[in-house]
Amino acid sequence: MSRWAYVNGRFVRHGDAAVHIEDRGYQLADGVYEVWAVMGGKLVDSLGHFERLERSLDELRIARPMGRKALELVLREAVRRNRVRYGLVYLQVTRGVARRDHAFPDPQPLPAMVVTAKTLDRKAAEARAAKGVGVITLPENRWGRCDIKTVGLLPNAMAKQAAKEQGCAEAWFVDPDGLVTEGASSNAWIVDADGVLRTRDTTANILRGVTRKSVIALLGEQNIRFEERAFTPQEAKQAREAFITGAGALVLPVVTVDGKVIGDGVPGPVATRLRALYIEAAQASVI
Ligand code: PDD
Repeated sequence: MSRWAYVNGRFVRHGDAAVHIEDRGYQLADGVYEVWAVMGGKLVDSLGHFERLERSLDELRIARPMGRKALELVLREAVRRNRVRYGLVYLQVTRGVARRDHAFPDPQPLPAMVVTAKTLDRKAAEARAAKGVGVITLPENRWGRCDIKTVGLLPNAMAKQAAKEQGCAEAWFVDPDGLVTEGASSNAWIVDADGVLRTRDTTANILRGVTRKSVIALLGEQNIRFEERAFTPQEAKQAREAFITGAGALVLPVVTVDGKVIGDGVPGPVATRLRALYIEAAQASVI
């Protein structure tokens, strides 16, 4: 089956899709991105991702490539053309193409935009969630604006590779105060030794996860004590449960932290319930 990508105004065959060598995203990581989960062929948490995309662009003073309605059409078309029922849509917007110079080009070029969509193996994802995954912890070494979803992901890529080499699925960054910030591509959560569900507050240097926000909204009707409060790796290791959230992970139980088994070493009841609730809400298109 042929794959399609959207590149600066048109859909082209994935294998032929290309951007300019002087795209500032390529040379300076001067760009932002978003990732939507796709379930039942529909974008999950659509609005939250649009809002964050606009905020990221505004923070970097990159022009919006098109309005929200048009953007939504492009994303839906990418899903349709690639026949994605369950998977991910990736959108990247950079400041555009200009002769290499660190300062912003003047006049401002048109922003460059790329969209791809891919199918994921749902059975494999469910099997992984049923078993749970391991995480490692690493010193935080990213820049101070992780609230902006930039394509400058080298520390995240290095951390993810380190996790992979240790048989783990994610790396949690630990800041100089000894507190977990977030994962390389997800937000970090625990149910602590006292049974309190905790995740880092968004005044910290973390991405304001769209999945994180939806999961918090879903807690409303659950009888779960919840606090936006940072935790240490030690607290995570003594926690009853741990899990991660993100467009890729959805809600994914964590069963080891730095090799230490969490709880009974199987996905805990809170993580399992929140995953089911999140997927149910996504399928009903209520988030
Ligand atoms: N990552 N923190 C970081 C550093 C992330 O990169 C992501 C998402 C999240 C979770 O955010 P959300 O719930 O909005 O997806 C948290 C995407 C999936 C990625 O880089 O592929």
